[in-house]
Amino acid sequence: MTFPQEEPIMTLSTNPLREGLRQHLTPEPCIMVIFGATGDLTRRKLVPALYHLALENLLPSGFSVLGFARRPWSHEHFREQMQEGVSQFSRNQPINPKVWESFSEGLFYLASSFDDADGYRNLREALEKIDRERDTNGNRVFYLATPPSAYAKIIAQIGQAGLAGTSSGRHGRGGWTRIIVEKPFGRDLVTAQELNRQLAEVFQEDQIYRIDHYLGKETVQNILVFRFANGIFEPLWNRRYIDHIQITASESIGVEGRGTYYEEAGTLRDMVQNHIFQLLSLVAMEPPAAFDATAVRDEKVKVLRAIRPISPDEVEEYTVRGQYDAGSISGRLLPRYREERGVSADSLTETFVALKLVIDNWRWAGVPFYLRSGKALPKRNTEIAIQFKSVPHMLFTNTATSRVEPNILALRIQPNEGISLKFSAKMPSPTVQMQSVNMDFGYGTSFGIDPPEAYERLLLDCMLGDSTLFTRRDEVETAWALLTSILEGWQLYPPQDFPNYEAGTWGPKAAHEWIARDGRRWRRL
Ligand code: BG6
Repeated sequence: MTFPQEEPIMTLSTNPLREGLRQHLTPEPCIMVIFGATGDLTRRKLVPALYHLALENLLPSGFSVLGFARRPWSHEHFREQMQEGVSQFSRNQPINPKVWESFSEGLFYLASSFDDADGYRNLREALEKIDRERDTNGNRVFYLATPPSAYAKIIAQIGQAGLAGTSSGRHGRGGWTRIIVEKPFGRDLVTAQELNRQLAEVFQEDQIYRIDHYLGKETVQNILVFRFANGIFEPLWNRRYIDHIQITASESIGVEGRGTYYEEAGTLRDMVQNHIFQLLSLVAMEPPAAFDATAVRDEKVKVLRAIRPISPDEVEEYTVRGQYDAGSISGRLLPRYREERGVSADSLTETFVALKLVIDNWRWAGVPFYLRSGKALPKRNTEIAIQFKSVPHMLFTNTATSRVEPNILALRIQPNEGISLKFSAKMPSPTVQMQSVNMDFGYGTSFGIDPPEAYERLLLDCMLGDSTLFTRRDEVETAWALLTSILEGWQLYPPQDFPNYEAGTWGPKAAHEWIARDGRRWRRL
């Protein structure tokens, strides 16, 4: 079943929403300094996102990017590399030559190692020169897009060079300074605390933007709108009506050349600590009193704190780990994880994880949250499924229908972004026969415009000084505290059966048996 289209389909150029954005959301002129600018993230995500903001006229006049990295590139070479990146990865093809020309005039490059004090003196000079030539008023965003091992050096050097500034700028002496920190933010509680401490030595908390690109996804932001701008769902959003919640983030790719990184990370660190915990906190949090950075993040932290800790001895009960074996996904052959480049032949790193969490508060008492994420699964699919309790008494017992499916509200984060509600309906026939049907909302059909890339929204928000969609210090540390104890348990009880699922299947058999012991099953996606 599909709802009829009531509103006319909007295009990018006629969309009043975008017009409104343009008037209200143009940040002050500023320079973005990207540390690690020769890396993949810059050409795949950051510069294409900035280019797209330029295309939509959302960048301030004079906006500039200063790439900072070791390779001895010239400004010109940096511009060429970025153009190539945009041609390959921008969601808007082909490149608009006029927009690119004016955007690329603001791209600059500075070669330096990350721990060379001279490099940061040159950085200061380069920033002051751009300020003079392009009127960027001393406003800066520093972006840490290097491997995390370089973070501490860069943060300390920024501090020593006197470049840390303040969140609002000093009167008469230039503007604000902010810093964006890419994931992974630490690898356990101790390292995350250490990174927070290093940041706090140089910056104030309101200058720090810890990025989680899932928060920039339209469908993720829509969780709050769906819950708190509609009267009908919130009364049902609790233990009285909900049986359990499943959050799935499945990927059909393997580790794709990132074996060395993945060996150190694993799915729990790579996907659960950040992205899946963000989904969980948005779905489970209490309504905030206002839609601002403090109120929203206060509620997110509160719900994370209410999650019952899993002690190292309980990992077998609350978690399942997996690692993929060779297999095929949609006709594509994938080698086993242990044969990927950079991966050890007896690796114990997990490429799949299933987790049961219990939230000890009034809203969620007795409602388990099942989370699962993995690589080399049959499909790329991220969704949150809210499964409601069955009816207390079933009238239609003597019917041809053997099984009545429960009501499920599925928030489809990606792909095929949308929301559907599953319910039972009577099939047209002289007897009572039931079948599950779906009421469906799809972003594509309802709005007719491409959703922006996550990084577009987040980079813009940072330039505007809005940290609502970035993670706060206490949020990161609370998430790590929960997961660190699981990691400790996994060390104590190493997996005996890796690899334990074939690429192209829905994870290890144990994950299905485990949820079945609770009388439930994973949703078929
Ligand atoms: C990244 C992980 O943070 O998120 C990757 O490091 C993962 O391993 C990616 O593939 C998934 O992001 P998305 O936006 O494709 O769901």
